[in-house]
Amino acid sequence: MADTATPNVIRRADYAPPAFLIDTVALEFDLIPERTVVRNTMRVRRNPDASHASNFELMGEQLEFVSATIDGAPFAQAHAHEHGLTLDNVPDSFELTLTSICNPAENTTLSGLYVSGGNFFTQCEAEGFRRITYFLDRPDVMATFTVTLRASKADYPVLLSNGNLLEEGDLPDGRHFARWEDPFRKPSYLFALVAGKLVALEERVKSGSGKEKLLQVWVEPHDLDKTRHAMDSLINSIRWDESRFGLELDLDRFMIVAVSDFNMGAMENKGLNIFNTKYVLANPETATDTDFANIEAVVGHEYFHNWTGNRVTCRDWFQLSLKEGLTVFRDQEFSADMAGGATDEAARATKRIEDVRVLRQMQFAEDAGPMAHPVRPESYVEINNFYTMTVYEKGSEVVRMYQTLFGRDGFRKGMDLYFKRHDGQAVTCDDFRHALADANGRDLAQFERWYSQAGTPRVSVRTQYDAAQQRYSVTLTQGYGDTAPAARETQKGPLLIPFAIGLIGKDGHDLPLQLEGETRASEATTRVLEFTQTEQTFTFVNVAQEPLPSLLRNFSAPVIVEYDYSADQLAFLLAHDSDPFNRWEAGQRLATRELLTLAGRAATGVPLQLDDSVVAAFARVLTDETLSPAFRELALMLPSEAYLAEQMAESNPAAVHAARQFVRKRLANALRADWLAVYEKHRTPGAYEATPEASGHRALKNLALSYLAELDDPAGAVRLASAQYDAANNMTDRSAALSALLNASAANGGSVEAQQALDDFYRRFEKEPLVIDKWFALQATQRGSAQRPVIEIVRKLMAHPAFNLKNPNRARSLIFSFCAANPAQFHAEDGSGYAFWAEQVIALDAINPQVAARLARSLELWRRFTPTLRDGMRAALEKVASQVKSRDVREIVEKALA
Ligand code: TRP
Ligand code: ZN
Repeated sequence: MADTATPNVIRRADYAPPAFLIDTVALEFDLIPERTVVRNTMRVRRNPDASHASNFELMGEQLEFVSATIDGAPFAQAHAHEHGLTLDNVPDSFELTLTSICNPAENTTLSGLYVSGGNFFTQCEAEGFRRITYFLDRPDVMATFTVTLRASKADYPVLLSNGNLLEEGDLPDGRHFARWEDPFRKPSYLFALVAGKLVALEERVKSGSGKEKLLQVWVEPHDLDKTRHAMDSLINSIRWDESRFGLELDLDRFMIVAVSDFNMGAMENKGLNIFNTKYVLANPETATDTDFANIEAVVGHEYFHNWTGNRVTCRDWFQLSLKEGLTVFRDQEFSADMAGGATDEAARATKRIEDVRVLRQMQFAEDAGPMAHPVRPESYVEINNFYTMTVYEKGSEVVRMYQTLFGRDGFRKGMDLYFKRHDGQAVTCDDFRHALADANGRDLAQFERWYSQAGTPRVSVRTQYDAAQQRYSVTLTQGYGDTAPAARETQKGPLLIPFAIGLIGKDGHDLPLQLEGETRASEATTRVLEFTQTEQTFTFVNVAQEPLPSLLRNFSAPVIVEYDYSADQLAFLLAHDSDPFNRWEAGQRLATRELLTLAGRAATGVPLQLDDSVVAAFARVLTDETLSPAFRELALMLPSEAYLAEQMAESNPAAVHAARQFVRKRLANALRADWLAVYEKHRTPGAYEATPEASGHRALKNLALSYLAELDDPAGAVRLASAQYDAANNMTDRSAALSALLNASAANGGSVEAQQALDDFYRRFEKEPLVIDKWFALQATQRGSAQRPVIEIVRKLMAHPAFNLKNPNRARSLIFSFCAANPAQFHAEDGSGYAFWAEQVIALDAINPQVAARLARSLELWRRFTPTLRDGMRAALEKVASQVKSRDVREIVEKALA
């Protein structure tokens, strides 16, 4: 797309420091749902490091301007316009008071100040603060804030904002007030307020240096019984950041607030984190093991932002990965440490596998399409569209590579230097890289390319064994293959790739590693090769037998490895590799290859068959008691349909579904007795325990149930699932049973048992919105059949009284689940899925552009599909392009069609 076709492209190269700085902000709110008055008093001065501007330009959106005063006197040269406020000919340093009005009750965008469930909440990242008051709403303008909130005491008994509570008291007419002060300078995107009828679970803990801290988790009164896990996760996060990074909580008080209308997961506002209820509320009856793990990860993530994001923030939004990539890395390490400590590699590996699976399925796909962008993008139209898998997940892999190169201690030294240099500043990704480089005495100039090049690198591997010389050479070649045009433009040269490798002998043990030029073999049997050129050969010496290479151990870089393993070699790695990640990886490669072959056959109508050796490899994992249940579950789960379709020359969701179902059925029938034995063995009777061990048992048992539900004769499995549904004392088992019932009956157009369970589930959890979300999602993602296509079920559910398009969680549970997590049904040949998608994108566009733009992305890979589907998708995209209003959705569909 020519940039001229898209007005308002923001470019990284155009960064200029702000003409003015704001040192202090005093905000006063008179909170009334339809008409909230905001008075904003700022100390403003010219920025000595910027070029002169006579006018002061403030950003503002959807505000009603009331008045401006400068140094106490009315200021007449203030002009409000669509994008903000211009003050002509201002002095060099002055106190500015602006008064404006906004309408939180009508704010369905959930950006700025809004009402949810009768309470007030804010969301300011990235550019929501300008919807509350006129401001220099950019992250390199940092100020200290004091906030006074006034509201009806009966309707809004709790009044919260960032930092410490200074004062509170009653006012005339049944109103009251609270005054808060945040002692730390912060950019406006970290501002928050909350007002309403809320209650808190409280704890007092001592931080590392002995100071007492008040911790609170604020929720609606009926949710107080679901706050314990979030509180425990917060306490663990505080401890972890102290011990792993020496970083202490810097406020006397730290608050988490849950809200059910929220665009994303959670927000790290200073001292007042605001969370989607989905990432706070949990008890065993309502939340699955996955929910518990996600809550721990997100609570950790937002807490860790206090240092990586808040104390050191971003200079501009192009640097978003500076805080997000780093903080995702930190939350991943936190979860791994919680599960396995620093040394239990197998337990750590399950977390690693889950993270890599997400990266490969979602980020690799993003990098292959029209939204491909570098970890540090060069331009954007709407910044909200760049809170992406690339910025977050690939960004986290980039941070992880520093640790892989320098070790944990070297990484810690780099972090220490980063805070020493930049505490209190708004900085860039380059500043972070330089801190890591300098602390470790390294030049990381080449490493910069990880921030500026889009697309997924491919590393192809050739090996050669010279028996006479006992030499084994590994030749690595890097490139990007045939990537998307959006990515190709950014590609300049080879990357510094930390490539972890091990060599495995015939007995399955690791061989000693000695590179040419070294005097002896190292103790470690994994070596991180620094691969920096387009092609490079590494030669190992004193290799007594021809080894099998274990490549990219622990997924040491976000790349695709190409190596011609035979099926037998993969089965051998699956059985023996000392690197647990690569054991899993071998199984995935084996399965992926088999499934893609089968999908190719299914696409052309050739009958399907599966080699017995593949069944045997799976049987060995299933029955290998030396492996943890959690690992076995991951190894036995086939690659997702979305991932497989992505790997095809032409994505064919129906063929992928047929192939994957064929393999699942074959594995179910061939290993029926083993699945049943595993099911029985891994039951977890007694009280629910949230430990990683117990959740591993449940995961493996429920995977067995899902395979048993695939049997040609599923009657026994249906009985098991019904019994499990009725007896369940936790949501993991109950929802897994419901899902098995739905899928076991799908081929026959449904069953009495499935319908009864579905009805029971609804009645039982009618008052728990997060569980009702699951009820919608399970139906939207269920298997369909010719006589009962899922689109019909989804359309019916759209009219259900509990459905509400304005609530993002509910919209995601039904619409996104169908459009993004049920590919075989969504991509129906008749185009019914695409028509539905277009309707919903257009409807959401008018309500909530951020959410609409996320949904819009589910068609972005349209060019990679089979011709019929491609045409249907293009038509739907064009329809949306012709009707859409928001900049958010427009950017997505225009890039897709360009
Ligand atoms: N910074 C938040 C995080 O990653 C996410 C975030 C960005 C967000 N923009 C948002 C959350 C808008 C809600 C709404 O932790
Ligand atoms: Zn974040």
